Amino acid sequence: MEDIRLGVIGGGAIAQIIHLPLLKKISGVKVVALSELDNQRLQILGNQHGIQKLHSTPEELLKDPDIDAVDICTSSESHFPIALSALNAGKDVFIEKPPTISNGECEALAKAAAEKNKVVLAAMNNRFRADFMMLKSYMIDKQLGDVFYINAAWHKKEPSTKVRVSSKTDSRRGVMLDLGIVLIDLSLWLLDFPKISGVNAAFFSRRFKKVEDTALVTLRTSTGAMIRLDSSWGLQQPDESFKFEVYGTNGTATLSPLLLHHRVKDELVSLTPVQNSKFENVFKRSYETELTNFVRFLKGMKTDVPTINQMCNVMKIVDASYLSAKRESAVKL
Ligand SMILES: NC(=O)c1ccc[n+]([C@@H]2O[C@H](COP(=O)([O-])OP(=O)(O)OC[C@H]3O[C@@H](n4cnc5c(N)ncnc54)[C@H](O)[C@@H]3O)[C@@H](O)[C@H]2O)c1
Repeated sequence: MEDIRLGVIGGGAIAQIIHLPLLKKISGVKVVALSELDNQRLQILGNQHGIQKLHSTPEELLKDPDIDAVDICTSSESHFPIALSALNAGKDVFIEKPPTISNGECEALAKAAAEKNKVVLAAMNNRFRADFMMLKSYMIDKQLGDVFYINAAWHKKEPSTKVRVSSKTDSRRGVMLDLGIVLIDLSLWLLDFPKISGVNAAFFSRRFKKVEDTALVTLRTSTGAMIRLDSSWGLQQPDESFKFEVYGTNGTATLSPLLLHHRVKDELVSLTPVQNSKFENVFKRSYETELTNFVRFLKGMKTDVPTINQMCNVMKIVDASYLSAKRESAVKL
């Protein structure tokens, strides 16, 4: 099968550190074009990665009939218009997180993708961490029994990407669309996308004032299971932390590192697998696995890369969280 000819759009931090170097190592794909608004950056990256076709706008890149798919790495609010133009130009699409900044945009992309018979996939590298992939396979095997409670928290010192807090209209640049969306996606994916019946959220803007820097979200599934998630770049803590706990009728999983316990008669037996890698390595490695699986998906293989329809389920909850936080009351879905 021929290599997928990929155009990367946006040459900022995530493209430079993750996408462009890793895509060179992955078989079955070749980055043939790059688009970047900053001309100096465009030329430097083109030279560095041996990319032949360099464009100053996405529109120019999308006109090229030799490009099969695009990888969108621009700032979040531009994902939707660029992805829609890419679909209209007949390209498959991969989008960095968040795929869009609202569910309305997400639904519009899902509709356009179906109409054009093209694929839109979203970046959610945490699904491809070795520890989460192991946990997912234990859950598919029902080792934890019926899961009735997930409790997760991700606290970082700084946002993953620049927050332009000066703009009054920048209401969708807070922690919810940086870390919160990842915790929602992991919870729904692990539980095989249950129906969510209610969302209750509280947001705090103590450090960044114009956007939420701390988001507390509780989700109720239609079967009564509860999911409690908190994400922050604004807490007074000395260290960053990541915690994910899954409680089932027959066992418990916590990470990181992944610890698994399963009840056998009256005893809790450890099912914890041997893990040699440090958390940093597990995290870094997940990006390569994610991009490899994106290429596999385009080649017709079944993978866990989030589809745009799955992401609309996530974005629906993101929107409901903003609404709940604004109203200061729970929202029914
Ligand atoms: N998955 C992750 O762990 C992760 C981590 C960081 C950032 N991200 C996401 O990646 C995206 C980019 O983040 P970043 O930190 O690289 O941002 P950045 O600001 O460093 O880079 C964005 C780049 O896109 C370019 N750009 C903007 N609009 C463009 C357009 N219309 N056409 C072409 N180029 C355009 C800018 O010139 C800039 O070089 C964001 O959506 C962010 O949320 C994901």
